[in-house]
Amino acid sequence: MAIPGRATRREFLRTAGALGATFAWGGAAAAPSRTRWVERRDLFAEGVASGDPVPDSVLLWTCASGGGGAAAVPLTVEVAEDAAFARVVATARTRALAAADHTCRVLVGGLRPAHTYWYRFADEHGQGSRIGRTRTAPADDDPRPVRFSFVSCQNVCEGAQNAYRRMAFDDERAAPEDQLWFVMHLGDFVYEVVDYPEDFPGGHRYDRRLRPAVRYPQGEKIRQGFHIPVTLEDYRTLYRSYLHDPDLQDARARWPFVSMWDNHEFSWLGWQSLQQFDGVNRPAQTRKVMANQVWFEYQPARVAKVGGPSRERFQAPAVKDVPIERFDASGLGQEENNLAAIRSLTGYRAFRFGRHVEILITDQHSYRSEEPSGRKEAEPLSSPDFPEMVPEEVMQALDAGRAHVGGAPPATLAYGTARVPNFRKNEPPQTILGAEQKAWFLQRLRASRATWKVWGNSEGTLDWRADPQNLPTGMGARWPGLGYACFGGGGDYGTAYTERAEIYDAVRAAAITGFVTVSGDRHSFWAGLAAKALPPAAFEPVGVAFITGSISAPGLVEAYEHRFPKDHPLRALYVADLGGEKKPAVNLLMHHGVRACLEYQRTGDAAVARRASNPDLAPHLAFLDMGGHGYAIARFDADTVECEFVCIPRPLERSAGEDGGPLRYRVTHRASRWKAGERPRLQQRVLEGDPGLSS
Ligand SMILES: [Fe+2]
Repeated sequence: MAIPGRATRREFLRTAGALGATFAWGGAAAAPSRTRWVERRDLFAEGVASGDPVPDSVLLWTCASGGGGAAAVPLTVEVAEDAAFARVVATARTRALAAADHTCRVLVGGLRPAHTYWYRFADEHGQGSRIGRTRTAPADDDPRPVRFSFVSCQNVCEGAQNAYRRMAFDDERAAPEDQLWFVMHLGDFVYEVVDYPEDFPGGHRYDRRLRPAVRYPQGEKIRQGFHIPVTLEDYRTLYRSYLHDPDLQDARARWPFVSMWDNHEFSWLGWQSLQQFDGVNRPAQTRKVMANQVWFEYQPARVAKVGGPSRERFQAPAVKDVPIERFDASGLGQEENNLAAIRSLTGYRAFRFGRHVEILITDQHSYRSEEPSGRKEAEPLSSPDFPEMVPEEVMQALDAGRAHVGGAPPATLAYGTARVPNFRKNEPPQTILGAEQKAWFLQRLRASRATWKVWGNSEGTLDWRADPQNLPTGMGARWPGLGYACFGGGGDYGTAYTERAEIYDAVRAAAITGFVTVSGDRHSFWAGLAAKALPPAAFEPVGVAFITGSISAPGLVEAYEHRFPKDHPLRALYVADLGGEKKPAVNLLMHHGVRACLEYQRTGDAAVARRASNPDLAPHLAFLDMGGHGYAIARFDADTVECEFVCIPRPLERSAGEDGGPLRYRVTHRASRWKAGERPRLQQRVLEGDPGLSS
């Protein structure tokens, strides 16, 4: 008999088929395991994982890497209510195919909501994987608070994944009601750009000891010195190598992951099915399909593949690398191999998580238009006199293209006394989501009845800007802009003004409350308010936004410490040299402005520096740490959203301690529910340590 709101067995089979997963049905009465199982981690060297939990089902994953040359490794999967497998509720047979790199995914249905389960795989000889733990989602009407972590940007070649160990250490000691439901991974799960140690003096880059953790069987060395994957086997090697990291593997075995790729799962500056190196776009439809295939093979997620009915493998569409010449009004390349490549896997999706949380996860790379400020034609619009800075009015013109100034864009863009051809004047406004995904996203957002609508978005939405117009005279070159500067170049929603405004206007127009964005990608911690514009334009926030620091990949502060020119007239805005130490002045720059940085360099006193703050620069920011690593924990209940940043020291080496090593700080930001049209308010609390120049 069907239980209202729960999938019947028949519906469930259809779902499993659509997801490309075999299935197990958990309807059985609990009974002790009757399957032979002896742990052999060497034969399942990439561990186990689970993903995308809903109230009655979850995807399970393993890789039978000991399968050697076998075309198929028959496996049994067991799901139990206890870690000793005395109460097994589902057992099923599946296969790990060589055609899927010996990975396999099993959808287990008929489970109880808000429940913890343990699972394991075994081959015909009883040789088994490690045991994994997973949790189903609470039922749609479950009023309990929901707590999950969100993470991004891990690099096993350049650092240690101590953040995951800290997360596990704390979670194991938390009361059951305070444990994490899942980990949301917002991308850069792998870095496809790999620095081989022998290519760098002393095998170091910045503070990092380069590890030979990833070696591409084929690979291609790019002019800048890094290596990229070029074959299916290269991409698979990348994931397998990452999953040999013990802390990452432990994390996947402890919590279900809800994952989305960012750029590095395919290609650093990739967009749609193009790669970009040295400012030149290369058609790379075949590699986009490889990246999708391997993501599908290694990430248990409810994503839709095309290409064939197999439940056991990704059937890659045959595509060719052909130039993309025609783009439609939303910037989508109409070339058929491009469309086939990006449609080979659809990653955006939504989940209900109890009464209070709906999660919408979007894909920021497969459908996006070309990022305009990175184009060759934009080169005259920035200068080493003002590192990272582009006039805000220039960035707005580049973003809006032909829609700028009400559809009458200027023929040239001013940069100081220079006049640069407006190469965007006949092109459509920039989009990150693309037309189809955006329509889905806005429709889902409007339809959601959850207290909190959480946008899981791999890219940050908060503006990053500086106020070089307020520099005292006599400090080097004159600022060539009319007012504020965008910082850090374009590439995310911080400069996708047109699309961000469209989304935020839709939130306002539909009187949507509880709009929360969680992001990664920036390798820095940010907390703030979601607004389409900043002063001198009207500042009208429609929600709150949080961005997590990287798990381990280096950030801007570390890069500055090594690379920022010592004699640059504006050095104090980026790095403060105080008593032989380098301090992250860039945090002050984007939060309080140039005058605060100069005061800080002069006095070494952060409080004095903040008194020189420019209140119009960043009314949207509550917190900014461009040098922080770690993870974030979001908590939602009927009345509040709270986000805790857990910041660790630069993760250069694997910590010896079981807790993952010391913390730099924990800080939370909390907002009570707001009414439509009301401005959300963030309350900051430092729980531990010292966030320094971050607030
Ligand atoms: Fe990253």
